[in-house]
Amino acid sequence: MALDEFLAELDQLAEAAAASFASVGDASELEALRVKLLGAKNGQLKGLQKGLARVAAADKPQAGKHFNQTKQRIEDAFALAEQRLESPGTDQAASDFDATEPGLRPRLGHLHPITQTIQELKDIFGRLGFRVAEGPEIEDERHNFEALNIDPSHPARDPLDNFYLHAAGYAADPEAGGPGADVSPWLLRSQTSTVQIRVMENTPPPVRIVSLGRVYRPDTADATHYPMFHQIEGLLVDTDVTMADLKTILRVFCSSYLGEEVEVRFRPSFFPFTEPSVEVDMQWQDGWVEMGGAGMVDPNVFRAVGYDPDQVTGFAFGLGVERLCARRFGITDIRDLFKNDVRFLQQF
Ligand code: PHE
Repeated sequence: MALDEFLAELDQLAEAAAASFASVGDASELEALRVKLLGAKNGQLKGLQKGLARVAAADKPQAGKHFNQTKQRIEDAFALAEQRLESPGTDQAASDFDATEPGLRPRLGHLHPITQTIQELKDIFGRLGFRVAEGPEIEDERHNFEALNIDPSHPARDPLDNFYLHAAGYAADPEAGGPGADVSPWLLRSQTSTVQIRVMENTPPPVRIVSLGRVYRPDTADATHYPMFHQIEGLLVDTDVTMADLKTILRVFCSSYLGEEVEVRFRPSFFPFTEPSVEVDMQWQDGWVEMGGAGMVDPNVFRAVGYDPDQVTGFAFGLGVERLCARRFGITDIRDLFKNDVRFLQQF
């Protein structure tokens, strides 16, 4: 028998076997097919094996090898069919899959409106050349008050107006006097102006930073107050900085944040750490809203951080992030921002 003929017969059998195994529907059909193809006595493969004896001696090694490979192919096809019948689920699921059905949309969370606001404020001031600085929420009296020119008798230091912390081992010093004297020297910061001090202590002028973060005051919560809220603090120190620079920066900021039609208004005010000081109002759609305070950095503040007030001037401002956020999104009660009610939050 010619070698070619023998090899072709083996290949034909392997292909037919693969097709048959792939289409068997149950275990008894599978077993019948196995006996028909691989049966030790009368199986078709066994039948072909007889042809091997008639192949020329020189071709025997190749013919034998091909015979063994064919046997393996048929056994593999059998094993695959057996596996398919044992776990029909996989095949079933595959056939039920409808690629034309619309998919299930994964539920994605999104950023809290305050976080969105903070990111946008950072972006806008970043474009105006302000670097972002950070400071701790637990502060000492030096950074929250003293270096900001707020002396011990100032009402802003009243324990009833601040969240002082109970510091273990702190001995009250009645000699120091003032409302803050008999309480711990640590408190939750009541303003982000603390960061002005921290930055100037560590960097020589010029300085151009914004700082955004939480501040704490024991206010009763209502539509416009909350005991924790966020401020954006700005500080620019250089030579020859003027009030006009302050107003320009704030107006450019407002226009970028709320739209072109926004106006900025200054009203005379007082802060211990700025002189002169102003309240900053912004007009947008339905009227004027107070957004925070600002002014020219007081020379005493420069002295407290080791700057020379004869060499540098600067401005600072502090605006309420909740107010900016509420304006932007049309929120009327800031308490809603902190209730964590997804139905409210997912609107923004
Ligand atoms: N720290 C002030 C406040 O919390 C705001 C302010 C900041 C005013 C910077 C002037 C300059 O009310």
